[in-house]
Amino acid sequence: MKHLITGTLLLLAGVAYARVAAWAQCGGQGWTGEKSCTSGCTCTPFNSWYSQCLPSDAPGHVNATIPRATFTQITNFGSNPTDIRAWIYVPKNLAPKPPIVVGIHWCTGTAIAFYNASSWNYLADQKGFIVIYPESPNSDGCWDVHSAETLTHNGGGDSLGIVSAVRWTIRNFHANASKVFATGISSGAMMTNVLIGAYPDVFAAGSASPGVPFGCFEGPDRWNNECSSGNLTKTPQEWGDRVRAAYPGYKGPRPKMQFWHGTIDEGLNYHNFGEEVKQWTNVLGVSMTPTNTVLDYPLSGWTRYDYGPKVMGISAEGVPHNIPYQPNLIMEWFGL
Ligand SMILES: *[C@@H]1O[C@H](CO)[C@@H](O)[C@H](O)[C@H]1NC(C)=O
Ligand SMILES: *[C@@H]1O[C@H](CO)[C@@H](O)[C@H](O)[C@H]1NC(C)=O
Ligand SMILES: *[C@@H]1O[C@H](CO)[C@@H](O)[C@H](O)[C@H]1NC(C)=O
Ligand SMILES: *[C@@H]1O[C@H](CO)[C@@H](O)[C@H](O)[C@H]1NC(C)=O
Repeated sequence: MKHLITGTLLLLAGVAYARVAAWAQCGGQGWTGEKSCTSGCTCTPFNSWYSQCLPSDAPGHVNATIPRATFTQITNFGSNPTDIRAWIYVPKNLAPKPPIVVGIHWCTGTAIAFYNASSWNYLADQKGFIVIYPESPNSDGCWDVHSAETLTHNGGGDSLGIVSAVRWTIRNFHANASKVFATGISSGAMMTNVLIGAYPDVFAAGSASPGVPFGCFEGPDRWNNECSSGNLTKTPQEWGDRVRAAYPGYKGPRPKMQFWHGTIDEGLNYHNFGEEVKQWTNVLGVSMTPTNTVLDYPLSGWTRYDYGPKVMGISAEGVPHNIPYQPNLIMEWFGL
């Protein structure tokens, strides 16, 4: 009898253990994993592509405790295997069902440095959206855009930590899950490519200023000289396949993608501009021949190339790595 009870308890424990943990995915189109949540959590749909196990006592109340118009750190925002940190800016005149912009810093950067250097908080004041400023956990301040984890949907790495902060914000502020956007500078631009590739269900659009294609840094090290020096070349099909492999089975809509690059970039070689054109036109299923070319956009000598309405590349003649960041135009690209 005693053995029988012990056996049953072990069995129950085994079942409970296999259930989906708090904050992890439990459903959505294409999802083949476990669907029942650990006790105390409810499987809650965010959109057709993603459902998440939310603690029953989670949120609602956080909205009221976050001060308005103040750069504020958030904690315990869900699955965060690499311990990224995150800050949030909630404007005074928060819009109903607010959009979310994620602003991602460069190597050696920090969340406050990006906050100071970009004007997203002022734009949020005007339009009522929320801004999330993630911060790299790595000693060099660069983002992990190379590991198998970060390059896999819900696979872990820095990308999952950032996405968890987004999911937490959607939940707590009743944000519009169809209006989540990512923008970044340099390493943050590379992370933008990673997020747009691995989390097409979370983001509606991205803007990278300047970055490299999804998967270009793939490998053992945080820095990839072959890619950064412009010696990594793939076909459009190969670049597109790399993105599709990040979330096998995903059949939903793909985010819009915009990328900016200076022609004399000494940090991330301009070759990567052409590789991004190949990748994102392939992923969005459009031609690599521009449908529209705008000279001197937005500055003299810069050229904007549209590849249909969902892919845009801006090539800045004679501009180095430190390309002037254009938050107003990026906001326009996001449709905010
Ligand atoms: C958030 O808090 C504000 C201020 O207390 C309140 O007016 C608003 O209705 C709340 N919104 C949500 C989505 O809970
Ligand atoms: C950000 O701006 C604040 C206020 O002007 C300043 O105190 C702080 O030193 C700045 N930090 C960085 C990293 O730029
Ligand atoms: C959320 O955003 C989508 C896409 O722009 C829009 O169609 C929808 O009306 C928004 N939902 C709400 C409740 O505002
Ligand atoms: C990249 O290619 C250039 C020219 O083809 C070469 O000079 C350079 O050494 C290469 N760098 C790497 C890291 O392979």
